[in-house]
Amino acid sequence: EQGEASSLRTPIVAVLGHVDHGKTSLLDQIRGSAVSEGEAGAITQHIGSTAVPLDVISGIAGDLVDPDDFDLPGLLFIDTPGHHSFSTLRSRGGALADIAILVVDVNDGFQPQTHEAVDILKRTSTPFVVAANKIDTVPGWNPEEGRPSKLAIEAQSDRVQSDLNENLYEIIGQLSDEDFSADMYWRVQNFQSNIGVVPVSAETGEGIPDLLTVLMGLSQRYMKEEMAIDVDGPAAGTVLEVTDTQGFGATIDAVIYDGTIREDDQIVVGGQAGPIVTDVRALLQPRPLSEIRSDDEFEKVDEVVAAQGVKVAAPDLDDAMAGAPVRVVRDRPIEEVVAEVKAELEDIQVSTEEEGVTVKADTLGSLEALASTLEEAEIPIMSAEVGDVAPRDVRMAETADTEKHQAILGFNVDVLDDARELAEQESVRLFEHDVIYRLIEQYEEHVEEIER
Ligand code: GTP
Ligand code: MG
Repeated sequence: EQGEASSLRTPIVAVLGHVDHGKTSLLDQIRGSAVSEGEAGAITQHIGSTAVPLDVISGIAGDLVDPDDFDLPGLLFIDTPGHHSFSTLRSRGGALADIAILVVDVNDGFQPQTHEAVDILKRTSTPFVVAANKIDTVPGWNPEEGRPSKLAIEAQSDRVQSDLNENLYEIIGQLSDEDFSADMYWRVQNFQSNIGVVPVSAETGEGIPDLLTVLMGLSQRYMKEEMAIDVDGPAAGTVLEVTDTQGFGATIDAVIYDGTIREDDQIVVGGQAGPIVTDVRALLQPRPLSEIRSDDEFEKVDEVVAAQGVKVAAPDLDDAMAGAPVRVVRDRPIEEVVAEVKAELEDIQVSTEEEGVTVKADTLGSLEALASTLEEAEIPIMSAEVGDVAPRDVRMAETADTEKHQAILGFNVDVLDDARELAEQESVRLFEHDVIYRLIEQYEEHVEEIER
């Protein structure tokens, strides 16, 4: 279209997996490799994400990635702490991430949060590759920094190779139990119908060239149309986290996946009580090269273009919710944008019944995931909200007619002290866990005890 500044944005890559399987180390290794390539400045650290440009990727991947073969600008990685709910990573009715890396420790294989990650990837139809991490920990492994993994494996003793293969095939089997056909990445032709498993070490950098190559190939091949955006248009984004930032009060850490947000923009953000209309006070990014947490940890920027992470300071954000939409108003009628945000919030609303349990979760996405798992388990929900467990939740749970429904299921949330006390007094049972099915298991055991 004429007059529109259309351009290809950076694909968003979510890094998912069980606690301690090496998500952050993997990103550190990619950053570290760029530093040793003399490209330290080229990698930009945003709020909640890391942008790695194409020339750096091809520097790390060597012969495997020829920049002339690609026209996407690079990759934007979002790290998700294992204990945190990555189901926050949602956008207009789908997944915020265009593709994902599922990190699995080769020694541990699938763990509870790996299963949860796979469920979410399945539900949102997000293409992914598996990074089978920590290959350097196979006893007898002979490391060589940054080597492609096929070469790295071929250089090991027969014993090491067979030990590693056993673990890798275990993971391939676990993927197949989840109905994914998977194989070692060098045997995969079509990465959309088959999941490629890339053996890597976040410690030695072995396999990182292959991993980046597979990710670039996947993005280029299947994502190009979705990456074409109007860069000058009003931004659309997703709240990753609501944070307190010194000097600014409540702020949101967001990922912008479409258009541009400017420091003088009016925005609409999804909040607990509906859409929040507010004006941007500042757009903040981490200071380059400064990793020290100090008062002026952040610097103000004039604008942020998709895809990027950014901290947005604006009045009235206390009520904002992780997983909720952020929209720039710009030249559109404000009611239109409010209606858009409202529609999206309603889309996520969980259906509740007159009788059932009370549910709390840390983000909209996790609330949705928990609610759908409860529905499968035929456990009715009376009330479902984002946020920590507060006394009024206990008051709510207390109103349930049956003993088994006088319960609060909290996923990834804290229980406020006065809520805990009140629950004790009123015999409302509290269940807390950061793994959905464990939470439900605990609740089901409790119900069995009551009904015995
Ligand atoms: P959470 O954010 O807590 O979910 O963990 P994470 O997945 O980000 O794991 P992290 O990168 O913090 O790594 C956990 C531990 O494993 C750290 O002690 C790392 O040094 C170690 N580790 C990660 N990757 C490797 C690897 O490839 N080889 C070896 N030997 N250690 C690794
Ligand atoms: Mg981490």
